[in-house]
Amino acid sequence: MIPEIEKSLNDQIQHEAKASAQYLSMACWADVNGYNGIAEFFYTQSEEERVHMTKLVKFINERGGKAVIPAIEKPKDDFHSLMELFETFLSSEEFVTQQINNVIFQCLEHKDYNVHNFMQWYVAEQLEEEASARTLLDKLKIIGDDKSGHYMFDRDINKMLPAEENN
Ligand code: FEO
Repeated sequence: MIPEIEKSLNDQIQHEAKASAQYLSMACWADVNGYNGIAEFFYTQSEEERVHMTKLVKFINERGGKAVIPAIEKPKDDFHSLMELFETFLSSEEFVTQQINNVIFQCLEHKDYNVHNFMQWYVAEQLEEEASARTLLDKLKIIGDDKSGHYMFDRDINKMLPAEENN
């Protein structure tokens, strides 16, 4: 494995691990603040990020590299509003997308079409996840400060996304 690419893939492990920890922390915040539907949503998102991380770990090790499991800093765990919670979700996804784009650019520079091909799965995932985050944030903007709107958002969050997002 090209050392520069191995390093970038290991960095990506860290980004996915960080996202997983962040969403777990967001699930906890939602849980203790009475938003059970939102909590379930973020528990699931956290699991998905862990899958993204593990897929990278296995890929690096199978291709002759060495995956390094990183230390993770404590995630943000206090939010002033649902809006802030979902803004954090969107900005986290946008950051991860940017990092994936960087890896892909690097693959093209090194003509590493094998890793480039592997990374296409992440490109597709990011498209879906960013779209979900934007959809949910748009709905919250419409709801504003309306408490009954927040109640319904929490009740319906796991039904609001396209079918492939509901698993
Ligand atoms: Fe795997 Fe949504 O970043």
